[in-house]
Amino acid sequence: MKSILITGGAGFIGSHVIRRFVNKYPNYRIVNMDCLTYAGNLENLKDVERSPNYQFVKVDVCDADAVAKVFADFEIDGVIHLAAESHVDRSITNPMEFIKTNIEGTVVLLNAARNQWGDDFNGKRFYHISTDEVYGSLGDEGLFTETTAYDPRSPYSASKASSDHLVRAYFHTFKLPVVISNCSNNYGANQFPEKLIPLIINNIKSNKPLPVYGKGLNVRDWLYVEDHAAAIDTIFHNGEQGETYNVGGNNEWRNIDLVKELCRIMDKKLNRKEGESEKLITFVTDRAGHDLRYAIDITKIQNELGWEPTVKFSEGLELTVDWYLQNEEWINAIVSGEYQAYYQLQYGER
Ligand code: NAD
Ligand code: DAU
Repeated sequence: MKSILITGGAGFIGSHVIRRFVNKYPNYRIVNMDCLTYAGNLENLKDVERSPNYQFVKVDVCDADAVAKVFADFEIDGVIHLAAESHVDRSITNPMEFIKTNIEGTVVLLNAARNQWGDDFNGKRFYHISTDEVYGSLGDEGLFTETTAYDPRSPYSASKASSDHLVRAYFHTFKLPVVISNCSNNYGANQFPEKLIPLIINNIKSNKPLPVYGKGLNVRDWLYVEDHAAAIDTIFHNGEQGETYNVGGNNEWRNIDLVKELCRIMDKKLNRKEGESEKLITFVTDRAGHDLRYAIDITKIQNELGWEPTVKFSEGLELTVDWYLQNEEWINAIVSGEYQAYYQLQYGER
């Protein structure tokens, strides 16, 4: 039996990756390492928590002793590292958390893998999940490729870029068998409602203002989270050692157009008059250093590993809206307490 450590498995993308691996690979022992920050939620894994090949450990990736113990106790063969502080706006108000978890935590895991594996890398793999934001900001033209120079511009993206460099350094210096992927914006069920799509769905439902930063002209490339989980599966098993793969949805949207599309879908679902939800759109102060456009060239992963997105945006958005409307308890549990405090700080009295 192989033992695979998935970090950040109680978060948005991590929970989809855990579900996919637990169900698809009964011969793998899946160890979910998560310290359950505000973004970690074991409710996301209710359907798999009793599976015999699944184990949760509440461990902070920065805690070197605890991490080393998990590697030894479970004889870890492979790592899929997703644990991170992931929200750009929080990195602007509190950068240190990002430096600690995203940089230091990644090095703690790299060291633990080296110590556990020694020089025998047979059947071993360290897979680091990163973001397209490390490449910086595009103008109206062009796409990020795997050879685009790094140019991170927020504390979040700088911390992820730093962790990518460290992972590559361990490959070159210590021959650690690593692979990295850099993905565009994910959307789907279980995303914490500080991120654009779930925040807008939730605010439309509650008739609250829809905060659009600046003029809403920034562009993001959206990928359905289960397509990302499939890409992670493919790269983990078939990616070349030391290589990087860009993952994206070929699906660019200006924020304002996306928010209007969500209003249109929600008007229908909530039996509101056409155009009613759009009245909630409120342009607010722009994000500091707001990157204009991200867009990913997926040629390499398509040609070399045969992965491509399968879920059309219209389909994925419907599924996502339906999930949030059907899971009121999930959202109600989150939008209390810490979320309220964050919302006040980020958007003021609204
Ligand atoms: P998320 O914020 O929803 O979840 C992060 C998870 O990591 C949470 O469960 C949290 O409890 C856990 N965590 C945080 N700090 C930890 C620590 N010190 N020790 C142990 N666990 C800790 O994040 P997400 O959106 O699911 O992103 C997951 C990964 O994918 C991140 O590395 C992120 O940079 C990357 N990524 C995200 C996107 C996206 O659109 N969300 C796109 C590309 C890449
Ligand atoms: O590109 C990949 C990245 O995508 C990931 O690495 C990050 O972890 C993930 O959070 C996401 O980052 P973004 O900053 O692009 O996502 P967010 O949902 O925060 O914002 C999407 C766009 O919407 C961005 O241009 C900012 C804008 N926005 C966001 C919020 C929360 C608004 O206009 N209003 C808002 O209230």
